Formats: sequence, C-alpha cells, structure tokens
Amino acid sequence: MKAIVLNRTLPEGIEFTDLTLPKLGSDEVKIKVKSAALNHRDEWCRQGKYANLHDGIILGSDASGIVVEVGKEVDPDWIEKEVIINPASDWGENSNVQAKNFKIMGMPEHGTLAEYVQVKSDRIHLKPDHLNWDEAAALPLGGVTAFRALFRQGNIHASDQVLITGFGGGVAQFGVQFALSTGAKVYINSSSEEKIQKGLGLGCSGGFNYNDESWTEKAISQTGGFDLILDSAMGETLNNLIKVTKPAGRVVFYGATRGNPTGFDGRRLFWNQIKMIGNTMGNDEDFGNMLEYVTKNKITPLIDQVFDLDNSLEAFERMKEGKQTGKIVIRISQ
Ligand SMILES: NC(=O)c1ccc[n+]([C@@H]2O[C@H](COP(=O)([O-])OP(=O)(O)OC[C@H]3O[C@@H](n4cnc5c(N)ncnc54)[C@H](OP(=O)(O)O)[C@@H]3O)[C@@H](O)[C@H]2O)c1
Repeated sequence: MKAIVLNRTLPEGIEFTDLTLPKLGSDEVKIKVKSAALNHRDEWCRQGKYANLHDGIILGSDASGIVVEVGKEVDPDWIEKEVIINPASDWGENSNVQAKNFKIMGMPEHGTLAEYVQVKSDRIHLKPDHLNWDEAAALPLGGVTAFRALFRQGNIHASDQVLITGFGGGVAQFGVQFALSTGAKVYINSSSEEKIQKGLGLGCSGGFNYNDESWTEKAISQTGGFDLILDSAMGETLNNLIKVTKPAGRVVFYGATRGNPTGFDGRRLFWNQIKMIGNTMGNDEDFGNMLEYVTKNKITPLIDQVFDLDNSLEAFERMKEGKQTGKIVIRISQ
C-alpha cells in the first residue's frame, strides 16, 4: 500500500513509498483510510525535532475511514462502520497525567498517512454524522488537546474573557470554537490580518497581531486582560502572556513552538497569583467527552487545504511555513 514514511536520509525528510502492513492482530481492526490530517508533530518528526524517531515509520496521527477487517477477538459488527481513531494509547490510571508508556500514533508506531491503518479496536469511535471525511479526519488529536486544555485544565466558564494565541494553528481553531460555544468572550492573536479576520468571522470579539510590538498594550486597553489564555508558542512571548493575564488568571500551554523563554517574569506571576498549567492531549475520557461535545454542538473543524497523498510534501511545507488557517488534510481514498 502507498504511505508517507519518515526518511531523514532524504533532504525532504519524508518519502512517498509502498509498504506492507504486518498481519492483523487478534484485537485489531484494519481501516481503509478516507482522509488523514497533519499535526505539527508530523513536521517536528520530519525536521528531526521529536523524540524516539525511526525512519520507515508511517507518519500521521489523525484519520477517518471504513473498517474493512477485524481481528479474531473483535466484534464483526465493526465491519463497514465509518470511524475515526483516537491516536493516543496507554494513558494509564491517573487522569491528571499520562503514564510513561503513553503513545501517539505516527511515531514511534505506524500512523495514518497511508491507504490502510491497523489499530486496536478500543481506539476506534463512530464518525460524527455531521462531519464529512475530511472534517472527521481533522478532529482527533487537535480536538482532544484543545478540549482537555480548555475544559479540564483551564476550567473555562461562560463569564471568562479568553485569549487563544496563534489562531491559524490546527489546535487553536478548535480552542476558539470550543471557547465560543461556552458563551465566553473570545479574543485571538495571529501573525496575519487575514487570519484574524477569519477568527472575527467565527464570532471572536477582537484580534491582535503578535508581531506588533505594542499588541499587549492594545489588548489590555481594549479588553482589560484575560481570565484564561490558551497558548502553544511559549518562547519569548511567555512574558507578554503573563502581562495580559488578569490577576488570578490561568494560562494553559500545550506546546512550545517558539522554544523555551530566555527570561521569565516571575515577579508578575506570583504577585498576580497567575496559574500556569501544562497540557498534553487527553485521556480516553477526555476523548469521549470531546466527541460527545463536538456532536452535540455541531462543531466543525476549520479546514485549511486538502492535498492528495502523493502531494503530501506540499502539505508539510505549508505547515512548516505557517501559512495555514486550521487543519491541513490529506485526502487518501475518496
Ligand atoms: N501537548 C500536546 O498534546 C500537543 C498537541 C497538539 C499540538 N501540540 C504542539 O502545539 C503546537 C501547535 O500545534 P498545531 O498542530 O496546532 O500546529 P500548527 O497548525 O502548525 O499551528 C502553529 C501555529 O502557531 C502559531 N504561532 C507561531 N508563533 C507564534 C507566536 N509567537 N505567538 C502565537 N502563536 C504563534 C501560528 O499562528 P498564526 O498562523 O495565527 O500566526 C501557527 O499557525 C506545536 O508545537 C505542537 O507540537 C502539542
């Protein structure tokens, strides 16, 4: 079958290739993939900036598709069902934090950028009816990350004034949609006026260009500050976020795209009793709750662009350059 694998011996870091999957395990299902979607971790893998990398592994953590075969121990009723995959496994018993052997599909085990994918049957869920194949593929990883970050970690309330940073990001657009659906007043920041306009179109109350050196002053004068911030940039912008957080506010981080900060405004943090909270994806309960919430509130992932599997390199380049607004989808068999 055709697939995109990591190959760091090539200048482009990935390879469109043909490979055979191992024999289906007794507790596994085989899915014919309809669509897959990129997450920044796929790009981090391509750049060699992810832990435990192995060349030859199929990248990708998100997919929608149809079950075509089941292992001996799996209910045959799953055959022909339209499904999405929870890409995380082995979270463990503690809902506050994942166990050491927590894994995400697409590295170090085979992922979804392929014509077929094999996963344990407890990882699949019925595709929400209101989503088409591309939208359903865009949901899992970003959806559960934004959901846990806002609801479990950020404890979002309708009365909150919320800032979602980097609106163009695949997770961030879920953050905006989830936050808006609670009734909270939502603001965004972005590198692009066009992206900000898209966010305003969704119902955001305002937006700031984070490349504008005075964005924090503008944000404070327009909003008075934020009760809750969702961020994956970190780096030197960390102190800006501490500046625009209201006293007793919360900042939830789910990434560090801009690396670690060199300075840290600890004084403002402790004086204003700000809570800084880390977040990684979500456990099975978060995933189930996210799916239920998305279905009930008819939330539809914002799709940036759709590429064919053999044009995946273009899709990766788009993500590397930060051109996207929302999820980048790879259509595989439609
Ligand atoms: N902890 C977890 O479980 C988890 C889960 C998913 C993702 N992540 C991490 O979270 C990050 C985002 O992932 P993604 O898949 O959503 O990536 P993505 O779609 O590539 O989005 C990245 C976005 O970051 C924004 N950004 C860049 N520099 C920024 C800055 N200085 N301030 C604010 N925003 C900035 C950009 O927004 P604009 O385009 O609007 O400028 C860009 O679109 C990655 O580092 C990823 O590894 C972690």
